[in-house]
Amino acid sequence: DYNLRQLPGYKPSPGPVVTVIMDGIGLGGGDSSDGVRVAYTPVLDRLLTEPLMTTLKAHGVAVGLPSDDDMGNSEVGHNALGAGRVFSQGAKLVNEAFASGSLFKGAAWRQIDERCRRGGTLHLIGLVSDGNVHSHITHLYRLLEQSREDGFGRVRIHGLLDGRDVGQKSALDYFQPLEQRCRELSRTGYDCCIASGGGRMVTTMDRYEADWSVVRRGWQAHVLGRGRQFGSAVEAIETSYREDPSLTDQYMDAFVVADNGRPVGTIEDGDAVILFNFRGDRAIELSRAFEESDFQAFDRERVPDVFFAGMMEYDGDAKIPANFLVEPPAIQGTLGSYLCASGVSSLAVSETQKFGHVTYFWNGNRTGYIDNSLENYVEIESDRIAFDLRPWMKAAEITDQAVAAVISGKYRFIRLNYPNGDMVGHTGVEAAIRIAVETVDLCLGRLLAAVEKARGIAVITADHGNADCMWTEKNGRRTPMVAHTRNPVPFIVKDFGSGNEFALNPLERRGLTNVAATLCLLLGYQPPAQYDPPLLRLRN
Ligand code: 3PG
Ligand code: CO
Repeated sequence: DYNLRQLPGYKPSPGPVVTVIMDGIGLGGGDSSDGVRVAYTPVLDRLLTEPLMTTLKAHGVAVGLPSDDDMGNSEVGHNALGAGRVFSQGAKLVNEAFASGSLFKGAAWRQIDERCRRGGTLHLIGLVSDGNVHSHITHLYRLLEQSREDGFGRVRIHGLLDGRDVGQKSALDYFQPLEQRCRELSRTGYDCCIASGGGRMVTTMDRYEADWSVVRRGWQAHVLGRGRQFGSAVEAIETSYREDPSLTDQYMDAFVVADNGRPVGTIEDGDAVILFNFRGDRAIELSRAFEESDFQAFDRERVPDVFFAGMMEYDGDAKIPANFLVEPPAIQGTLGSYLCASGVSSLAVSETQKFGHVTYFWNGNRTGYIDNSLENYVEIESDRIAFDLRPWMKAAEITDQAVAAVISGKYRFIRLNYPNGDMVGHTGVEAAIRIAVETVDLCLGRLLAAVEKARGIAVITADHGNADCMWTEKNGRRTPMVAHTRNPVPFIVKDFGSGNEFALNPLERRGLTNVAATLCLLLGYQPPAQYDPPLLRLRN
């Protein structure tokens, strides 16, 4: 029963509670590499001096990741914001499943085993890096070792270049040792190698149906073996670096490894396929391409009869994919469930690239409405480009929607995500990052004015850092830093007229999981006992 109890003596604000997630805007070192600091941000600067301002941990164990070496990301960040407590996340659950061996004892591995001992090829598709956001290369190594131990004859890797959660031209650090390891393993009558690949932003890993052509390119390379041919993955990467030194890993064209013109690892009837990414957003579309019988998004040309498994279940409601190796975190009792059960009307807004973040991730990796009589989710279509070319993205349109919603008086709770700091932060282009941060600041100013006029309450925070570190310097040489950071994020409450008196709660540790209870309080409800404590207390 998710019905919340009202707080005695609480005076509800006349206007809505509006939560702004400034994606990828953390609090960095404050030097010239800090894109949030160097941008002109009068609104944010003022907010950072508010009495109800504090900072939150947004990485590592505080958001359910294996260790504090792990940077935060949008999945775990929005899960934490929306669930009000820490759940062990994919990265951690998969590690544990390998450590205990349970991963190889489940039904999915048994079916793979059956096919691959009978001569089927095992295909391993996924992101090859140690970013630990979508995948980890150690998981790939473990799958290779076990498949050899279990007597599979033939394994083909379809490896996607990262350059987004790790250094932007770091692919050889992963692909060279991987091809080396494949050669070592193959000597003993077990045949494994890389068969295809490509940069993750142009090959296979689209999300939220932003651009299906990305998945089509992946399908053509991995399944059909169609694409520019090379003798090895390393040769493909080195050629790309040579031909266009400005092109970074995430945007590298799809490639196919071939021997005398013949692709070495197309996907055929009787094979098994593992998508070894554990995070769902960028894994759902390829899973659908393998599984859906009435698939419409692009012409697959040939659909092999394979056993397909994900590293995890990517969507628990839509059951995508049907088979998977590790159970995802069972996130229950999200803020959305509580607010819907308590009759609170709400709106969620973002553009395509982050739309699922404020809905699917926020709701504990559930797609769709919890209660469509109380909720409205608005998606503004994202541009299909590299975002350094349009760093303002759709922030103005998101603001238009949010401002209109505030004025309409239809919603008690509004949440929105500004993607700019993150999406542009991932490009590493300094001039564009500054514009991205300034865009968010400008829009925030407009939105705050509307919340003030409506006498609502604004809550401003972020899911993790990114723009707050644009480059690192070593021996006087700067390298763009495109990944997320481990910096804390701001948390600010600006009450424009509820008439309540709030104070910061003196908590020993403060992280993203404390936000949901705080929102309950600001909406006038007693937070659920199972939630981490609120960041504010009421002094009425
Ligand atoms: C991506 O998928 O774009 C990056 O790997 C992580 O970014 P996000 O966690 O901010 O979405
Ligand atoms: Co990001």
